[in-house]
Amino acid sequence: MDNRAIGIFDSGVGGVTVLKELQKLLPNENFAYIGDTASFPYGSKSKKTIIELCKKRIENLIDMEVKMIVIACGTATSQALEEMQAMFNIPIIGIIKPTVRYLRDMNFKKIGVIATTGTIRSNGWEEKIKESIPEAKVQNKACPLLAPMAEEGWIDNEIAKLAIHEYLKDIKNIDALVLGCTHYPLFKKIIKGEVGENVDIINTGEMVAREVREYIRKNKMENGNSENGDTQIYLTDLECNFINVAKKLLQAEDVKIQKIG
Ligand code: DGL
Repeated sequence: MDNRAIGIFDSGVGGVTVLKELQKLLPNENFAYIGDTASFPYGSKSKKTIIELCKKRIENLIDMEVKMIVIACGTATSQALEEMQAMFNIPIIGIIKPTVRYLRDMNFKKIGVIATTGTIRSNGWEEKIKESIPEAKVQNKACPLLAPMAEEGWIDNEIAKLAIHEYLKDIKNIDALVLGCTHYPLFKKIIKGEVGENVDIINTGEMVAREVREYIRKNKMENGNSENGDTQIYLTDLECNFINVAKKLLQAEDVKIQKIG
């Protein structure tokens, strides 16, 4: 048994889509979430900067004495996961590996990936998909406007529809579309409307939550509490729209945040 919290971070509110799935699957666990709003967006930054930012956020979480860390960000996973795993002596899970395992188990071969510019530039998704499913055909598309729109709460208006149409119009003939940025599940309804009912829309948070559950069970790190766990949310800058979007996502009346960093 291990009652310490599970640490999570993202550049902003996107990682809350992962937090939500973790809370669903592991209701007794405690969570500490950092939204690095002072450095948002990660998606347009260099690999070197992403590594520096991830290092700081992981140090913050280690100072909070978390038992493991989830990088709830596609950009950070694709460009810094291996470096962070080599640098720190704490279990660190990203969003790519658990999702690729699911794609393989489901036998998907025609796969679309939408993500930030940095993630698509890193080719992280395609490499890992092809390592696991060599015959897979992958269509990648960077969608740089979507994460800022999600932070703004523009998730169900005409502008979101137009942007998503423009980004997805050339992706054709796929069985699954990976939402390779954790902000994108906020647009799931519009994306579904654009690609059609037959395409499986992959929310990485669900796969990550299953992976975390498996990991803590196997390593006997579960929280021994029988009551619902607690979630603490920290932001590196409070001048943002985080609370409004997080409230919608978590269907909560209020979301309390604290300043960090
Ligand atoms: N949520 C992030 C991701 O999964 C990053 C968005 C951004 O900061 O650009 O890639």
